Amino acid sequence: MKNDVNRQFRLKNRPVGRIKDSDFDYVETPIPELADGEALVRNLYLSLDPTNRIWMSDMDQYLPPVAIGEIMRGGGIGQVVASKSPHHKVGDIVNGLVGWQDYLHVKPDAMFPLSTLPKDLPIPLTTMMAACGMTGLTAYFGLLELGKPKAGDTVVVSAAAGAVGSVVGQIAKIKGCRTVGIAGGAEKCRLIKEEFGFDEAVDYKAADWREQLERATPNGIDVNFENVGGEIMEAIMPRMNLYGRMPLCGMISGYNATEPVKADFNPILMRRIGIQGFIVLDFAAKYGEGAAQLAQWVAEGKLKSKETIVDGLEKAATAVNMLFDGTNVGKLIVKIADPATV
Ligand SMILES: NC(=O)c1ccc[n+]([C@@H]2O[C@H](COP(=O)([O-])OP(=O)(O)OC[C@H]3O[C@@H](n4cnc5c(N)ncnc54)[C@H](OP(=O)(O)O)[C@@H]3O)[C@@H](O)[C@H]2O)c1
Repeated sequence: MKNDVNRQFRLKNRPVGRIKDSDFDYVETPIPELADGEALVRNLYLSLDPTNRIWMSDMDQYLPPVAIGEIMRGGGIGQVVASKSPHHKVGDIVNGLVGWQDYLHVKPDAMFPLSTLPKDLPIPLTTMMAACGMTGLTAYFGLLELGKPKAGDTVVVSAAAGAVGSVVGQIAKIKGCRTVGIAGGAEKCRLIKEEFGFDEAVDYKAADWREQLERATPNGIDVNFENVGGEIMEAIMPRMNLYGRMPLCGMISGYNATEPVKADFNPILMRRIGIQGFIVLDFAAKYGEGAAQLAQWVAEGKLKSKETIVDGLEKAATAVNMLFDGTNVGKLIVKIADPATV
C-alpha cells in the first residue's frame, strides 16, 4: 500500500437500490500540508454502518446527506501522525468521523470534533467501535432509556446477530429479561443463543418464522427493540403486550427500497404501544456514563463484543453491502492500517 497518497472514496451518485462500486470515485490525492490549528490523522479502522446508506441518499435524515463529490462520511479510529493543533498530539488515538479515506485532514472548524481515546486501553481498538463504541451506546441508551426493561420482561430484538442487536440482547439478559432474537439463518440463530445468551432465536429466513415467533413469545412481548422494520416489525406489533415499549432504532429492510415503505398503525392503537424513534446522538451528553458501564461489563465478561473485520480500505464500497446481505456478525469494520509505535 502506498503511504504517500491519500486514497479516498468520493460519492459520485446517489445509489439506487443496492450500493455499487460505481457509485463512488476512488481517487488518490496528495497528503495535505498542515496550516496552524490543523492535524493529520492516519485512519486505522473504518466503521461500516447501515446509516452509511442513508447518508448516501437524499431522504429526510438527521445529518446533511453526503454531497455529490464529497468524501464519503464514516466513523472510525485513527492515529495522529502530524499536528499543528493544540488539541492533538502525534501518537494520539482518536475516534470520530474519519471518512472513507487513508488520512483525515483535521481542521479546527470540523462539525464533529474527534475525541482522544485513553492511552493503554485494556481492550482492543475494534471493541471501542463495537460493544464499547457507538453501536454499544445505541443499544445501551435505546434499550435502557426508551425500552425501560424490567426483570422478567420479554424483550425481542431484530438483526440480533448484528452490532447493535447482539449488545441489546446481552444487556437485556444482564437486566434479568427473557430475550428473543430474530436473525437470518440457522447458523446465526445458533450463534445468538450460544454466544450472546439469547433464550430463543427466530430464523426469519425459515418458512415457518411467524410460528417460531409465536412459540418464542408465549406471554407476548414487553419490549421490541426494532432494527429492521417491514414485515418483521409488522409481525411483532400484534404480539406486543398492552403498553409495551418499542425503541425504534432502525429499519434496515427499507434502506435499499426504491418505494416508500408503509406500516400498519392499527396494532399501535390496539396494543397502546409506546414507540420512540431515536438517534444515538440524542444521548451524546451521557456517552461517558454509557461507555464506562459497557466497558465494565466487557471487563467482567458479562458482555461479549464481536466484530467482522475486512482488510483494506479499497474494499469499503463492496463490504458495506455485507450489512444488507447479512454476511456480517457483530460490528462490521474495515481495517485500513496498523497503529505506529510512537
Ligand atoms: N438510531 C441509531 O442511532 C442507530 C445507530 C446504529 C444503528 N442503527 C440501526 O440499527 C440497525 C442495526 O444496525 P447495525 O449497525 O447493528 O448493523 P448490523 O445489525 O450489524 O447489520 C445489519 C444486519 O441487518 C440484517 N438485515 C439486513 N437486511 C435485512 C432485511 N431486509 N430484513 C431483516 N434483516 C436484515 C442482517 O442480519 P441477518 O443476517 O439477520 O439478516 C445484517 O447483518 C440498523 O437499522 C441501523 O440503521 C441505528
